[in-house]
Amino acid sequence: MDNYLALTKLKIKHQDILDIILEQNESDWTSDEQYHELRLDNWLDYDCIKEVVNQLPHNLEINNNRIVAEKLDSNFCLPAHKDGTRKASIYIPLTALDRAVELYSNDKEWVRPYYHNTATLINAQSWHGTTTKEQQKIGLQFSLYEDYNILQGRLKHLS
Ligand SMILES: [Fe+2]
Repeated sequence: MDNYLALTKLKIKHQDILDIILEQNESDWTSDEQYHELRLDNWLDYDCIKEVVNQLPHNLEINNNRIVAEKLDSNFCLPAHKDGTRKASIYIPLTALDRAVELYSNDKEWVRPYYHNTATLINAQSWHGTTTKEQQKIGLQFSLYEDYNILQGRLKHLS
């Protein structure tokens, strides 16, 4: 079973979304070492974000609480991990598109890189990690709490 599904049919204004993220105050970000998160209570007031959510099935129930921007510092290794309570996510990469997500097997053996230069549904309960180089890696993520297999079926028409 694949642990990811590229959502190539989603129409996304990447630069507009990146601009919104970059214009927020530095103090709105929370940080865990070189990993940073930005949560806003008004993400869906921005047209370019609302437009993406409107293309997704309504039963995914994306609301402001489920949207988070992530930023990884340059020259940082995020080791293989599973996300906490999140079962899956839709990740929209915005910078450092040449930096792969590293995919691992159930017993944490490295399998292969996945270059997501497009929005992707990811099984957050599979082992994954990434390493940045000179550019920081910024992306927008929608957190999902249903089983990956179910979500894969619901999103297949966008792949
Ligand atoms: Fe993760």
